[in-house]
Amino acid sequence: MVSLETKLQQMEEIMPRLLVIAALLNGSISINEFDGLNNLKELDLSSNRLRSIITVNGSQEESGILNELEDLDLSHNDLNDSIWSFLKELSSIKTLDLSGNHGLHGAIHNLAKLSSIENLFMDGATLGDDFLPNIRIMTSIRVLSLRDCALNRILPIEGLCELKTLRELDVTRTGFGGSLPWCLVNLTSLQLLDITSNHFNGNIARSPLINLTSLEYLAISNNDFEIPISFKSFFNHSKLMLVESLNNKLLEDQEDIFATPPRFQLILLSLSNSEHGRITGSFPQFLYHQHEFIVVELSGFVFTGMFPYWLLENNTNMETLLLSSNSIGGPLLLPSRQMRNLKKLDISNNHLEGFIPYNIASSFPSLKFLNMSTNNFDGNISSSFRDMTTLLLLDLSSNHLEGPITIEFCELKGLSMLYLSENSLTGVIPSCFNSSYISNIRLSKNRLHGPFPTAFQNLSSIMELDLSYNQFSGNIPTWIDSLSLLSILFLQHNHFEGNIPKELCHLSMLTLIDFSFNNFFGSIPPCIGEFDFGGFNGQLLMDWILYRPTLPFSLENRFHDTIIDTPAIQEVEFETKGLTLSYKGIVLYLFSGINLSHNRLTGPIPPEIGNLSHIEVLNFSHNHLTGTIPATFSNLKSIESLDLSYNNLSGKIPSQLTELYSLEVFDLSNNNLSGRTPQRVFQFATFESSSYDGNPLLCGEPLPKKCNADYSPPPMPRAAINGSEEDSGFIDMDTFYMSFAGSYLAVVLAIVAILFINPYWRRAWFHLIEVFLTSSYYFVVDNLVYPVRGFLWK
Ligand SMILES: *[C@@H]1O[C@H](CO)[C@@H](O)[C@H](O)[C@H]1NC(C)=O
Ligand SMILES: *[C@@H]1O[C@H](CO)[C@@H](O)[C@H](O)[C@H]1NC(C)=O
Ligand SMILES: *[C@@H]1O[C@H](CO)[C@@H](O)[C@H](O)[C@H]1NC(C)=O
Ligand SMILES: *[C@@H]1O[C@H](CO)[C@@H](O)[C@H](O)[C@H]1NC(C)=O
Ligand SMILES: *[C@@H]1O[C@H](CO)[C@@H](O)[C@H](O)[C@H]1NC(C)=O
Ligand SMILES: *[C@@H]1O[C@H](CO)[C@@H](O)[C@H](O)[C@H]1NC(C)=O
Repeated sequence: MVSLETKLQQMEEIMPRLLVIAALLNGSISINEFDGLNNLKELDLSSNRLRSIITVNGSQEESGILNELEDLDLSHNDLNDSIWSFLKELSSIKTLDLSGNHGLHGAIHNLAKLSSIENLFMDGATLGDDFLPNIRIMTSIRVLSLRDCALNRILPIEGLCELKTLRELDVTRTGFGGSLPWCLVNLTSLQLLDITSNHFNGNIARSPLINLTSLEYLAISNNDFEIPISFKSFFNHSKLMLVESLNNKLLEDQEDIFATPPRFQLILLSLSNSEHGRITGSFPQFLYHQHEFIVVELSGFVFTGMFPYWLLENNTNMETLLLSSNSIGGPLLLPSRQMRNLKKLDISNNHLEGFIPYNIASSFPSLKFLNMSTNNFDGNISSSFRDMTTLLLLDLSSNHLEGPITIEFCELKGLSMLYLSENSLTGVIPSCFNSSYISNIRLSKNRLHGPFPTAFQNLSSIMELDLSYNQFSGNIPTWIDSLSLLSILFLQHNHFEGNIPKELCHLSMLTLIDFSFNNFFGSIPPCIGEFDFGGFNGQLLMDWILYRPTLPFSLENRFHDTIIDTPAIQEVEFETKGLTLSYKGIVLYLFSGINLSHNRLTGPIPPEIGNLSHIEVLNFSHNHLTGTIPATFSNLKSIESLDLSYNNLSGKIPSQLTELYSLEVFDLSNNNLSGRTPQRVFQFATFESSSYDGNPLLCGEPLPKKCNADYSPPPMPRAAINGSEEDSGFIDMDTFYMSFAGSYLAVVLAIVAILFINPYWRRAWFHLIEVFLTSSYYFVVDNLVYPVRGFLWK
């Protein structure tokens, strides 16, 4: 291997102006390595594991090394504060990227000599107390990015007001709060202001923002601002193009219908609001004057009125329109012209009614995400979906749709998620249905019938299949094992019958199975014990990385994390009493359970089931199972809910079950068990007689029946329970899941974030984002998901 030194010596002959070294450097390097590269203007050492750059006797100025350097990227390394003695001397530097070096401390004296610096990125560093108050020394600064910077204590933000040359300021997630200081009006060149995820408050119509008429991009999401919905105080901001204000408090205010229209033309407006500050009323007037929109997110405000088709008609470039959770009623009015660019439309959770327009496909020929769920649409599923060949997600659930799923659906070759639950659909699934990308199918709560659909036979991409609450019948086909990615299989409340095929056990990704309320008979296949529940699957990542449109926005050095689109994560319910198991998104995939209740299963419970050490829910109730409870059940270390009630189980209850410290719901009632109930220790101290009722031969606490002539040990005092075993057993499962979700989320975000802050992209112009998204999507899917799977499921 050629050493770095040799490589760089070779470079000297070419006299490069730009040098990029990636994923190679480790620890310290000496500045001497760059000796001779006198023409170097740009040096990119990002994403290495560099700790420091050693200077020659502290005077690189004399030696002239890197004297011409203007652009230095040291982001995403491991730098410590020794780097400052190197940086101090780079007097010609204009752009310095130090973001993603979490060991770095920003002290202002270190920057004193860098008088010509224009662009400084210090995301993730710790800022010293002198930093903001003295920041005025950066007299040429244009772009300052302090995202995620830790502050030793909250510093007054006023210091920033003196940066007269500032064009872009990003203080996302720095913990600032209070009202915005008025001195910000002095930042007359400010084009981009990102103060997302802080604790700022106050009415923005009475804030310095109304004077910052040079603003092009205003990002104030996730603060405590009050936002008057008329937006009239911003009508003179003629340059404003992007406004992100998710989850602030919206205020209704007086519209002045004779006012001059706004001078801005927005391309992005995000005002969606999940919780507070809902307003009720019609769409604000300024929307009628916009014709450049690409993204409009107005979910959750409770707008009333008809579907705003004019918003589409007026904005032919629209790519994303999100209007979910409003009170929009009437029929779905389509724009009179074709919306070639619309890729994502969410009108879920409104009061829309009537037929789905037959020409919806010709109006929106490029649609990828269509969510019309939870409305009052009725009639047949429109045959015009046939032409929506670009669709990835189609959600029509919770409407009043009826009639068969027509062979039109067979044309949707690229469909990945098909949600038709809670309608009145009838008939059989057409056998031609064969989208080879389909991953999630939800047909629950319809009136579909016929055998297990043969159409699914070769759809090995299916991860979630929900056929519950229909009238399907017949056996589970033995080809079920061709669905090798299947993770969720819901067949409950149908008329399925026959044996549970052992081929099911080949599905190594299965995490949730609900076969309850069918007519399955025969015994439980022992191989079910081979499931390796407890991994996660890649579906999640696909849910997270959703489409975000291109913005023809030309501010450089700009990247935004809103690409991750949380609302797409959908809830799946797994019915279990006493526990809240309708986990959303992330946690769901860490959750596993088997419900075989209300069937006609016979024979013993295979001891192999005890191998399911990651399973949370087992429900074999209401069958005809015989034999004893396997002692191996004490290995079900994650079990939270165990229901074996209404069977013919006999023999003694294995005393080791008391080692199931996670158990919260336990039901052995209505069997023929005998002997003594388990000791009332740990979780078992919480179970009442209802857990054991209907077993006439069973005795001991909490049952009223005493065991004959036996000494029964007194129940453990509660204090002991709460004391010694707290750590191992009495984990608050909610907290556990939340923290688990939290850390998992952090991993996912970290992965995504790494992609996002990759400096090449960071410097890229916005029109590259689509390319980026596509490639990062495939990057994540190809490089992360599949190896992880391979690893976990080998
Ligand atoms: C920074 O890291 C280098 C190399 O590991 C080490 O020699 C130096 O002492 C460190 N300096 C500081 C200020 O931590
Ligand atoms: C900055 O703005 C404040 C008003 O908020 C004003 O009093 C002050 O003079 C301004 N400073 C400069 C340097 O213009
Ligand atoms: C916008 O500018 C016009 C003319 O300068 C002025 O009359 C009006 O009050 C301004 N509107 C706002 C909201 O500042
Ligand atoms: C937008 O649509 C409305 C309603 O059709 C119309 O009154 C308005 O003039 C249109 N605005 C633009 C900018 O086209
Ligand atoms: C087991 O399933 C049956 C039928 O679905 C249900 O009634 C019962 O509540 C379930 N048991 C538990 C503990 O959730
Ligand atoms: C219950 O189990 C006992 C043996 O423990 C057996 O003698 C009896 O016949 C069983 N009763 C029923 C109803 O199966």
